[in-house]
Amino acid sequence: MTARFQNKRVLVTGAGSGIGRAAALAFAAEGARLIISDVNEANVEATAGMVRKQGATAVELIRADVSRSADCAAMVERAVSRYGGLDVAFNNAGINLKAGPIAEVTESDWSRIVAINFTGVFLCMKHEIPVMKRGGGGAIINTASVGGLIGTAGVTAYCATKHGVVGLTKSAALDHIKDGIRINALCPGGTRTAMLEEWFKDPEVERIAMAGTPIGRMASPDEIARAVLFLASDESSFMVGHALTVDGGLTAQ
Ligand code: NAI
Repeated sequence: MTARFQNKRVLVTGAGSGIGRAAALAFAAEGARLIISDVNEANVEATAGMVRKQGATAVELIRADVSRSADCAAMVERAVSRYGGLDVAFNNAGINLKAGPIAEVTESDWSRIVAINFTGVFLCMKHEIPVMKRGGGGAIINTASVGGLIGTAGVTAYCATKHGVVGLTKSAALDHIKDGIRINALCPGGTRTAMLEEWFKDPEVERIAMAGTPIGRMASPDEIARAVLFLASDESSFMVGHALTVDGGLTAQ
């Protein structure tokens, strides 16, 4: 495969686990210079170790909580101070809540999930876009979910934040198309990561998820990472403000 990201400066949030880690490894394998971040420092250090083991040397790691503006600013500043700018940002960090109807969602859980999944994407873009603009353009991929396109009983707060990410992506994409910045959202279906395994501790949740996914299995993080790299690369040069599903047929039904 050609190295589509040779020397590109790529920021990945939520890189300590799952989809973020898989994307970091895939970007590095194609020559990217990385800034990887996560609120969990030990896990993002482990990802950096894996990236280096693969042979990449340009990897900066930073502990950052995407719900804090100062942390998002520091992440982007690291890209500027270390590499002189930013070409690609994968705004991916996110959480889920225990399933349950809306009246059982506590106000503090609501605030927390909105702060991380929704405001976090806003804060990342707020700090990334001026730097990309100065550099003449870039590509941003925001992780939404199939939960950003359809509703699911018991998953109200999560779906609300992910619908928000899709809306934020579409409007921001239109705002910055003239700046040469392409902004798209990624909508994975069920993917075998720590987040999903937590949910699948309830066998009934796993049964429902498997039954509702026509392909008959969950995705691997690598399958999702491939779509991230596509959206980040020039191969998707005419895609703007799009919400790309990678979901084993879930939303085709
Ligand atoms: P994961 O739990 O394996 O990874 C999420 C990472 O985000 C963790 O390393 C965690 O420490 C980090 N994180 C959590 N809060 C953070 C914060 N405040 N600041 C910075 N980092 C923070 O989960 P996974 O599955 O890799 O999730 C990645 C993204 O994909 C999330 O946005 C999730 O909502 C989304 N997604 C996941 C699906 C799945 O089935 N696994 C399906 C659709 C979307």
